Amino acid sequence: LDNGLARTPPMGFNNWNTTQCTATFNESMIKSIAEEFVSKGLKDAGYQYVNIDDCWAKTSRNAQGDLDPDPARFPNGIKALADYVHSKGLKFGIYTSAGTHTCNKAGFPGGLDHEQQDANRFASWGVDYLKYDNCNNQGVDAQTRYKKMRDALAATGRPFVYSITEWGQNQPWLWAQPVGNLWRTTGDISDSYTKMVSIFTKNLPLAQYAKPGAWNDPDMLEVGNGGMTPAEYRSHFSLWSIMAAPLLIGSDLRKVSAENYATLVNKDVIAVDQDPLGVQGKQISAAGNKYVISKPLSNGDYAVALFNNNSSAQTISTTAAAIGIGSASSYTLKDLWSKSTRSTTGTISVSVPAHETVVYRVAKGVRTAPSAGTHQVSDLSW
Ligand code: GLA
Repeated sequence: LDNGLARTPPMGFNNWNTTQCTATFNESMIKSIAEEFVSKGLKDAGYQYVNIDDCWAKTSRNAQGDLDPDPARFPNGIKALADYVHSKGLKFGIYTSAGTHTCNKAGFPGGLDHEQQDANRFASWGVDYLKYDNCNNQGVDAQTRYKKMRDALAATGRPFVYSITEWGQNQPWLWAQPVGNLWRTTGDISDSYTKMVSIFTKNLPLAQYAKPGAWNDPDMLEVGNGGMTPAEYRSHFSLWSIMAAPLLIGSDLRKVSAENYATLVNKDVIAVDQDPLGVQGKQISAAGNKYVISKPLSNGDYAVALFNNNSSAQTISTTAAAIGIGSASSYTLKDLWSKSTRSTTGTISVSVPAHETVVYRVAKGVRTAPSAGTHQVSDLSW
């Protein structure tokens, strides 16, 4: 969607993958997350949106037909929470469904036929991002439903990142570029390696449809939730980044281990995701469950991810020619997890542990590290 937003994939937090609808999802939790963003370096690493998911509302509209927040979870209302998030220099997102009700069985009201009223309410609260789900849609055509809310959001005059959450059911990659800033390509992720890989394999072939302002969304991150090993979470984060996916943290940051926290704030991998060229990485090869994925970067470098989806270590090999970087007499490879650098005349080959992913930034010629203290997220040097 050409609304000037999400020119790189959105980065932030959403509570769903860790809380679902439980009582732990409340004002104090969301405020703590905003505080962590600032105090633990997530904001500095580029994370910006603090988003709330389903179950925030009352089960009935009020006398004016408006949505109200559940007073037990949000005793000070949504505007006060959005103001708090804004006071930290962050942005705030909310959720509803393009149906009569949201997805939760408690029966929270949805936006179908209330598009403008709900968009106005969100704008009045200072909301910056809307995740618009697909449950209870009464069989109304998806494009009609999602365009109606796009237009309602635009009519408020407030900028909203607009997240189309119809789970890939209507092939949104074929029509959603002018409708939303991101569109889900699959059903829901869960905190399991097998599920993460199955979603990855569905999102990977859709590379051609992603561009600045319009991204394939393979769903939110599970990094830190405990159902995968640290190596598997590094793969999850590496694969989402090489696919230019939204990076929405789905774990309770107050409980994430140091090793998984380090995964979430790896600025070199984040820079692959956030590269301004805005190209989703493409599969180069996948024989033997050894994936090679290549992504061009704005300064002429390439990122390449070597993902071992086997239960034993494997050597994964490709070449500079195969990943598309073009010819040179030598190349520098920087391993974005270990930070080690080496040179090659063209072969890119490494032993990758089970379920792990090696990500290289590949540059033509000799590249050396910048002097101490100059390295930033946006720094395209080494
Ligand atoms: C759907 C969405 C999830 C989440 C839940 C909330 O399943 O795909 O991401 O928002 O609804 O009920």
